[in-house]
Formats: sequence, C-alpha cells, structure tokens
Amino acid sequence: MNIAEIRHLSFAYNETKSVLHDVSFSLEEGKYYCLVGHNGSGKSTLAKCLMGLQSEFEGDIILFGLPLDRKNLFSIRSRIGIVFQNPDNQFVGSTVADDIAFGLENKRIPREKMQSIIDDFAAKTGMAEYLDREPSMLSGGQKQRVAIAGVLAMGPDLIIFDEATSMLDPKGKKEIIDLVHQLRKENPGLTILSITHDVEEAARADEVLVMNKGSILMQGKPEEVFSRIDDLKAIHLSAPFFYELRAALIERGLKIPEDIKTAEQLEEYLCR
Ligand SMILES: Nc1ncnc2c1ncn2[C@@H]1O[C@H](COP(=O)(O)OP(=O)(O)OP(=O)(O)O)[C@@H](O)[C@H]1O
Ligand SMILES: [Mg+2]
Repeated sequence: MNIAEIRHLSFAYNETKSVLHDVSFSLEEGKYYCLVGHNGSGKSTLAKCLMGLQSEFEGDIILFGLPLDRKNLFSIRSRIGIVFQNPDNQFVGSTVADDIAFGLENKRIPREKMQSIIDDFAAKTGMAEYLDREPSMLSGGQKQRVAIAGVLAMGPDLIIFDEATSMLDPKGKKEIIDLVHQLRKENPGLTILSITHDVEEAARADEVLVMNKGSILMQGKPEEVFSRIDDLKAIHLSAPFFYELRAALIERGLKIPEDIKTAEQLEEYLCR
C-alpha cells in the first residue's frame, strides 16, 4: 500500500522563484527512503509541503489515502512525525522530559504510561541522563537526539527526518540509524523518509530519491541509483564508497561479479 502519493507537485515561496517543479513519487508503507540532493534543491521545502506547513502548492499530496487539504490536515499530521533540520526550532518543553512529554500529551497518551515511554526513548537515544536538563543548554548533537526521541516516542506511521543526525559524530549517527532500523523491525508499518547528505545512510535505505533543482531525478533501490555514477557526478553528487570504488575498478578493466554488494565482499573478492 502507498502511504504517500505525490502527483505533479509544484511550489513557489513567491511569484518570482519556483522551488518545486512537477514532483511526482510515491512511498510504500513500511519502507525506508532516503532523499538526497544538493543544498537548495528543495528537500526541506518538500518536507514542509508534506507536513502541510506550505499549503499554497499545486498538484496533489495524498497521505494515508487522504488528500492533504484543510479538512484532513489535523488527522494526517497526527500520523506524521518530523525532525526539522535545525533542532532549535523544535523545542517546546522547559526540560528534555517535558519536551518528549509534550508530544505524548498531544497524542492523549495516559499519564501513567507516559513516564515509561519517555524513559525508554531517552535511553534508546542516549539521553537518559539529560531528562531534567533544559533543551536550549544542550549541544547540537544532543538537541538532535532529543528531537529524535520525541518523534519516535509518539509512534507515528510516517517519520520525516530532515538531516536529523547531521550534528552527530559518526558513531552516534550509526547508533541512531541502527535504532530506527530496529524500530522498523518491531513495527513493520513504520515508513521513514530521511533527507540526508550521508550517502552511506542512503546505501542502507530500501529506496533512494535524488532531487535536483526542485525535481525528482531518480528513484530506485540504492544499487540502481548509486550505479549511475556519471549521472550523479553530472549533478555534483557522489555515491557511497563501495559504488565509487567498484566503478573505479571496472573502469580499470576489472570484472566485478553482480553478487558483490558491500565494500567487505569487494575487499574479500580482491584478496582472493
Ligand atoms: N522561507 C523561504 N522563503 C523563500 N525562499 C526559501 C525559503 N526557504 C527556502 N527557500 C529557497 O528555496 C530553495 C530550496 O530550499 P530548501 O531549504 O528546500 O533546500 P534544501 O534542499 O533543503 O537544502 P539544504 O540541503 O541546504 O538543506 C532555496 O533556493 C532556498 O533559498
Ligand atoms: Mg534542507
């Protein structure tokens, strides 16, 4: 089932400059999507449109089978969680615990259940020791962890991460992405749309969407999209290390079997 259907979406912030041009794609329930593209290509604008934060668009946005319009806005939004690019814009609570609680209150989670959910997601995102702290006093990466905890705790059906782990160190980033993959195993209906510049994260997605100058240029499995090294180069994007290395070896005349899909397998094959 498609959880999102975007058809011929166009959007402009003002008359002079259009930002999204005739964007069409769909998202299947339960899949992990990564949206990649240059600075200014329109990724965050697309996310804002999906959240109903920019209502003056042309075309159709259908989420959970409902057209995104004024009538359905509230029920659609209640099923989506978004972590914005700048975590400072996201906090409402005076402490980390209050902040996570705020989303749960909106979801009318009973008080007696709330504390264990807060504790659980604070622990999972490595923020258990910070529950009494003021969000504004945290580091950028810690703020991102809290924002992620708050969204995961609400149990939405669709999560949009807009560069949600951009300030985390590589280990922290991997832990959070592993956590999200783990949550998907526990909850097969959960759909993720992760906007990222991290192509290694995108290599682990079910599908990758490539945005360029307000249009979707490619959508497909990571191996399909990242094999198109030259098309990516043409828009100044690079592929994950494995795909770059494989392309370089093929260019030097080496034959790489189709079933080699990771850098580790490639290394082992080359050693043999
Ligand atoms: N509030 C706004 N008003 C007017 N123009 C805007 C506004 N927000 C973004 N833009 C413009 O829209 C275009 C797309 O911006 P957007 O933030 O969607 O890009 P992005 O792909 O998310 O980039 P990044 O990778 O840097 O986050 C840019 O040219 C930007 O200058
Ligand atoms: Mg952005």
